[in-house]
Amino acid sequence: MIESGEFDFENRIVAPNMVTGESEDTDYSLRPKTLSEYIGQEKVKENLSIYIEAAKKRGEPLDHVLLYGPPGLGKTTLSAIIAHEMGVNIRITSGPAIEKPGDLAALLTNLQSGDVLFIDEIHRLSRAVEEVLYPALEDFAIDIIIGKGPSARSIRIDLPRFTLIGATTRAGQLTTPLRDRFGVIQRLELYTKEELCEIIMRSAVILGVACEKQGAMELASRSRGTPRIANRLLKRVRDFADVMGNGVITRDIAKIALDRMEVDELGLDSLDKRVLTMIIKGYGGGPVGLDTLASAIGEEAVTLEDVCEPFLMQMGFIARTPRGRCATELAYRHLGIPKPGCSECADGQTTLDI
Ligand code: ADE
Repeated sequence: MIESGEFDFENRIVAPNMVTGESEDTDYSLRPKTLSEYIGQEKVKENLSIYIEAAKKRGEPLDHVLLYGPPGLGKTTLSAIIAHEMGVNIRITSGPAIEKPGDLAALLTNLQSGDVLFIDEIHRLSRAVEEVLYPALEDFAIDIIIGKGPSARSIRIDLPRFTLIGATTRAGQLTTPLRDRFGVIQRLELYTKEELCEIIMRSAVILGVACEKQGAMELASRSRGTPRIANRLLKRVRDFADVMGNGVITRDIAKIALDRMEVDELGLDSLDKRVLTMIIKGYGGGPVGLDTLASAIGEEAVTLEDVCEPFLMQMGFIARTPRGRCATELAYRHLGIPKPGCSECADGQTTLDI
């Protein structure tokens, strides 16, 4: 019998987004402040450094930038770095926080020349707010309607020249007119194990934690390509090292701690495993529609789609077909479940050799 029920998303240790008790400030000290301190995303860094240098040479603000990719990869951090490298201030907000056109007008009119306005989850801006943004981006002006009914009139307010940096996990949901107004569009990729290991070693130094390279590598392997998860796991594994060992994060301590936290050697947690097991045992390996799968698990479809699927697809454990989601042979092997009709699995082989 497969269990279903509420999963504690608020405290999910491998959540790529911020979880309860975590704030942008908590991680502030771990954030790189310059492009040279920033590890990984080499292509993005190379391009940005050229655009920044060129804009500075011309004495102009940087063109508007769109950063997209999975959560937790450092879009906010990179935006703060861009502002720092340009020598300007950054104002940070998000799509859902800008409820009315007036909210955006207030933000825009308070900017100083050259400033960066960072809008996270920019795909969640309302249409009415987006309409105000278009002339702001193109002409550095906003049109404000004063009064109501027949006496209403529109006045144009000039804005300082500024740079918008938009961030989104869902570039496909951006409207074409909005996307077209970004001069620079960059996709952030999941980090390699080696890059995460470097990030963990750097964070360990800042936090004053002794961490062996092998320990950092073990953490990196289980961090789902995501620095935010890597830094969170580092802090929790430090607790185990302090209590169960001599404070040093070794490979063994990292393994014990991560096993206790139920994060497996590839970074899957119990929710990922429930999803895969449900597809395999509940639906013969798929295909199964997202809504059906979600209700069988007892979670919202959108939650599964945003928090579980990207990583499971990236790892090659789930395939998306027009008729629904399927568990791949790799998923069967990782869970140690023989795949019917699979010659490799016919003897019940359960080892994973990837
Ligand atoms: N901390 C979080 N992300 C980082 C990155 N890309 N480089 C260095 N430190 C980080």
